[in-house]
Amino acid sequence: MIKKCLFPVAGYGTRFLPATKSMPKEMLPVVNKPLVQYGVEEAIEAGMLNCALVTGRGKRAIADHFDTNYELEHQISGSSKETLLEGIRDVIDRGVFTMVRQREMKGLGHAILTGEPLIGSEAFGVLLSDDLCINEGPGVLAQMTELYRQFRCSIVAVQEVPKDQVYKYGVIAGEAIKDDVYRVDKMVEKPSVEEAPSNLAIIGRYILTPDIFDIIRETPPGANGEVQITDALQTQARTGAVMAYKFKGRRFDCGSVPGFVEATNYVYENLYPSDL
Ligand code: UTP
Repeated sequence: MIKKCLFPVAGYGTRFLPATKSMPKEMLPVVNKPLVQYGVEEAIEAGMLNCALVTGRGKRAIADHFDTNYELEHQISGSSKETLLEGIRDVIDRGVFTMVRQREMKGLGHAILTGEPLIGSEAFGVLLSDDLCINEGPGVLAQMTELYRQFRCSIVAVQEVPKDQVYKYGVIAGEAIKDDVYRVDKMVEKPSVEEAPSNLAIIGRYILTPDIFDIIRETPPGANGEVQITDALQTQARTGAVMAYKFKGRRFDCGSVPGFVEATNYVYENLYPSDL
């Protein structure tokens, strides 16, 4: 139903310096798999085989990761190590990867607008790979695609966060229209505890309808002087409809060091095959 997913991967990842000085944050491995690969696998599982990467300077390793490495593959061909490449080979075989560069880091809204030529005029997913989401059943994007079938409007994934953490997120308010689904009437990017309309925080999964591009074009820079997707979605909620979905599964904030360590421990203890 939704064929394309946008991956904004142009950010500097300053919270991981010096590791991210010359290496993209999205290539940091949670155990043995880079963050961006978890994200691409989630999108492909949701049927979004067309993966559009919004990259920037110093991000070439991401493009290389989704390409064949003949020398390495030839070297380990026929050895037991070859099994370690099965997952990424499957991703490369199934997915189609396109790229565009964001020349200046002007915020997530601007990164999404930069991806417009790769998306065109259809609804699309957006996945921020520093939010690692794990669920035993369908992944978060697959859950959201199911909801899109019903509502045919933009959808944001939300999670309840402790009230004193709201300042890190876009926060929504809205009427619950069924279990875990809210019709959004207000959104605020990085509010203070007093300003926050709820403790439902937007995390890095979106389904957006293509009219969002025109709205972003008209959206002035907001919090931190950046063009915020939350501000554009607030306009879309006012003039059309935006739903928020409290997803099933666990989410790790891998854009922060504590969240990254927590994800690493969780994946090692629960998902990493013991015979490797
Ligand atoms: P973050 O706010 O986590 O920023 O962006 P960052 O630069 O990656 O990390 P820190 O804060 O310096 O450590 C959220 C997501 O949006 C992307 C980032 O790559 C990340 O996936 N992004 C953000 C862009 O692609 N372009 C931008 O201009 C801003």
